[in-house]
Amino acid sequence: MPDIETLGRLIERLSGSGILISSDLSEVDIPQSNLDAIYARVIEKYTNSNGVSVLDKSTLIGIIDSIVEGKAPIPIEVRQSSDFKPLAKDVHASFKINPGNVERAEGNVASFVTYFRDRIARIREMIESRRVGMSSGAPQNIDTLKNFTDGREVTIIGMILGMSVTKKGNILMKIDDETDEAKVMFMNGTSLAAKELYEKSRTLVNDEVIAITGKISGPFVIAKEILWPDVPIKMKNKSDEDVSIAFISDLHIGSKLFMEKNFTNFIKWLNGEYGTKKELAGKVKYLIIGGDVVDGIGIYPNQDRDLAILDIYEQYRVFTDIIKDVPDYIETFIIPGNHDAVQRAEPQPALTESLLKEFKQNNMHMIPNPSFLTLHNTEVLVYHGTSLDSVISAIPGMSYAKPELAMLEILKRRHLSPIYGGNIIVPSKTDNLVIDRVPNILHMGHIHKNGMTSYHGVDIINSGTWQDRTEYQIIQGHIPTPGIIQVYETKEQRFSTINFNK
Ligand SMILES: [Fe+2]
Repeated sequence: MPDIETLGRLIERLSGSGILISSDLSEVDIPQSNLDAIYARVIEKYTNSNGVSVLDKSTLIGIIDSIVEGKAPIPIEVRQSSDFKPLAKDVHASFKINPGNVERAEGNVASFVTYFRDRIARIREMIESRRVGMSSGAPQNIDTLKNFTDGREVTIIGMILGMSVTKKGNILMKIDDETDEAKVMFMNGTSLAAKELYEKSRTLVNDEVIAITGKISGPFVIAKEILWPDVPIKMKNKSDEDVSIAFISDLHIGSKLFMEKNFTNFIKWLNGEYGTKKELAGKVKYLIIGGDVVDGIGIYPNQDRDLAILDIYEQYRVFTDIIKDVPDYIETFIIPGNHDAVQRAEPQPALTESLLKEFKQNNMHMIPNPSFLTLHNTEVLVYHGTSLDSVISAIPGMSYAKPELAMLEILKRRHLSPIYGGNIIVPSKTDNLVIDRVPNILHMGHIHKNGMTSYHGVDIINSGTWQDRTEYQIIQGHIPTPGIIQVYETKEQRFSTINFNK
């Protein structure tokens, strides 16, 4: 029997599009779950046609086949190797989860004001605690600047409202500290000091909170020095036990480009069944997944063309089917990313039970994005990294090839998403994306490119992806690094990189 209901819904959706359905279609069974994708491809096919088009049976079957082609992968069975004696199995887990605060936003003007006030106040405190680094005395409120005469040196702390280049090539910045706004000028001078300061000012971004020392000159403050909240030198936290933490992100299950075989090899490696460095595999006590576990549905236009699994629940079902083979003595922490089926605005709540039906394993922890973890004394701040897009495009010298440098800029600004509006943020009473606690390791994903650096004792890592290079990335010239993990040994305090593409 033809699925009249589905056919009826397709006819209804196509009404007004200039596409008519041929009468021979009544014999065709249109799969219910793929109706969105079928509709999108029919529209796409006839997008350049003038007048009325008729969709016949063979064309529709061709469209359905093209979608069904990329059907869900069947997860491979993983069995732990019998001669594998993992050290981590005999070590008690010692972990603490400080989930990021997920608040509901009221979304009115007052909530935005409170949100920004909180951001300014908390980052201001961080800057003031570093005042030894400032050349002048206590900071002044901006509304008091009008009382000072020209030439007086002042320090102000506030949030950048905007920047522009003047006709003479100077940079004019507007900054606000709640008492008032100030106009700060970075002169396009010729001395070495002026050039250095000018270059630094080009790295400033809207909405970040900084301190400026400068001299009053009429309506302007002529900048002499910029001070970021920055991070103090962080000492490494040592663990007495020889366990390690594996970092991964961006699986994108459901995408045609999900590298299932490579990912299964990683799971096999954790079970002592695959590859080299088996001793290290046996030390893995913790696994962190930095978001985008699935590719999602409707994340970008025409995404259905890139999907092997067109149903969001099915994407998560395949995820749980694969991830269940992580050995049960490994504590796994999973945050969502921008492709996951939770609230898009950050901080994002943890993946819900309704998505992960029948998946209840005590060693799997679904936690918000971001979250702060203490794992055998090692502190990890894990954040998906959606804000990296805006940071990379705003700061000169940043690129998708080196996500670790953009992460460093984020750390220095003590805010996970310094540019407001670059990605969606919940304007809650407390700005939950301020980096209050400096971790030992800052972990992000999102860019699909592994990267690693260290700054003031903080290890910064981006954990790549398990999705092959997409068409969009080819157009953008971005080369991802799928199938590579980073592992941190908490006793030796060292990182290793393992490639699952061989
Ligand atoms: Fe991703």
